[in-house]
Amino acid sequence: MHLSRSAEWSALESHFQDTGNLAMTELFMADSGRAERFSLSLNGIHLDYSKNRITDRTMELLMDLVKRSGIETRRREMFDGERINFTENRAVLHTALRRPPGYEISVDGEDVASEVADVLEQMKVFCEKVISGEWLGYTGKRMTDVVNIGIGGSDLGPYMVTEALKPFAHGKLKVHFVSNVDGSHLAETVRELNPETTLFIIASKTFTTQETLANAMSARAWFLDKATDHAHVAKHFVAVSTNQEKVEEFGIDSANMFRFWDWVGGRYSLWSAIGLSIALYLGFDRFGELLAGANAMDEHFRSAPPEENMPVILAMLGIWYNNFFGAHTQAIIPYDQYLHRFPAFLQQLDMESNGKRVDRAGVETEYATGPVIWGEPGTNAQHAFFQLLHQGPNFIPVDFILPLRSQNPIGMHHDMLVANCFAQSEVLMRGKSEAEARKELEASGLSGLDLKMLLPHKVFPGNRPTNTILLDQLDPFTLGSLIALYEHKVFVQGVVWNINSFDQWGVELGKQLAKAILPEFESEEPIEGHDASTNALVNRYRKFRKA
Ligand code: F6P
Repeated sequence: MHLSRSAEWSALESHFQDTGNLAMTELFMADSGRAERFSLSLNGIHLDYSKNRITDRTMELLMDLVKRSGIETRRREMFDGERINFTENRAVLHTALRRPPGYEISVDGEDVASEVADVLEQMKVFCEKVISGEWLGYTGKRMTDVVNIGIGGSDLGPYMVTEALKPFAHGKLKVHFVSNVDGSHLAETVRELNPETTLFIIASKTFTTQETLANAMSARAWFLDKATDHAHVAKHFVAVSTNQEKVEEFGIDSANMFRFWDWVGGRYSLWSAIGLSIALYLGFDRFGELLAGANAMDEHFRSAPPEENMPVILAMLGIWYNNFFGAHTQAIIPYDQYLHRFPAFLQQLDMESNGKRVDRAGVETEYATGPVIWGEPGTNAQHAFFQLLHQGPNFIPVDFILPLRSQNPIGMHHDMLVANCFAQSEVLMRGKSEAEARKELEASGLSGLDLKMLLPHKVFPGNRPTNTILLDQLDPFTLGSLIALYEHKVFVQGVVWNINSFDQWGVELGKQLAKAILPEFESEEPIEGHDASTNALVNRYRKFRKA
């Protein structure tokens, strides 16, 4: 039966009618155990979800909905390597990349555990050589800089992780990321680099992505401009891909290729050899800790009952707001400068996975699916868009993410950061009533018409929901766990919405159209094959190019 016509969905709809307006502050006042009951700790992560518009009954009904979706079967199918990405006929096995050896899964007759172990060993050996200085460039110098060239999942994960874990870097290598086909990205990155000591990683699952290949070719030209001899490329270019043929076609020896498999989705690939830049920057052991953290969350996700399952809880709270309160966006606010790319990483993870409008049967859903994910680090975000969170008409649930321990304990900075984070979630919940605002204005000496004019502007509706995710500290293990938490959250939501979270045909269409327009810029004749607007834009650029 269609999800939104199921008994579980209807029960939530009536529950929303009855309780949607309950004030969280009153729920707290009536229930001294609420904060503790709606909190959960594991793997160095503490989730406080008590500042949500929920009661015990809400959680029961949400759990009924997730159980109805067949989550246990779907979860087992994912972990066992069944082809749950049915529109691409692929298994979804990123969890196998972080699983300790000893399990048995085969895909297309290949033993997944041993394939994964082999590539990890290849990465380890390579990292040791580069970090120790045994790997030498074409003039006999050791590598000082690593440039990862990739885009989407072949960029966002490694970039986010290397930024997040900067304090854990061994310091012998700098790491850079080039993703945008805008030549400025590459130009600005290589400006300060020396080709003799620079190692390029060309990271592309398909090795056909236009942006990545363009950047890779221009990087090679930049390198050869100084190195001159093609034979030197082997010391300075390695590839991470599933496509050996294309890698060789590009001119990278297969000995310098780190493989992964089509059962690793791009946005779930940082755990594979796509994480090579992470392993080089942090050292292989730290990369192993990242994998271990993710595996610990996998184990929790596959074994904990829904009511105590962190990814399931986060997923169902998201569904509560998205589908019943009509909140179509979700803000992610890390109170940690090192996590500044985390919202961008989650944008791809969540929106590329669940931005789908037809269900698994190909029928248009009658309900909203993936929300818009956005955010910036606090406290910067407070001074940018928090006004809208507090007093705008939109209802926007927020996840706050805060490490308890600072990597840079300077003076009172961390206390101030923490105080801001806690204050925001408190105020978003409490708001400021008209009576409180009036009292404040009166105390400041205002009265009469002046007070009346100002009063509505000083009122905060409050009752706006937040999750607070506290990390003991931002280290490789905890970060691995945190990323896996969101991966599984997205998975659970996809299962409940009955969509395929693992394809991305929308992005593929954009890729094809750009390829079709590119040659038109060379045309001698005006372009007429598009709509009038696109024709005019193309023709304007053609003229501009010629001038
Ligand atoms: O953005 C679409 C996408 O297909 C992602 O899923 C993928 O991570 C990215 O492009 C890059 O693809 P590739 O790794 O094949 O270059």
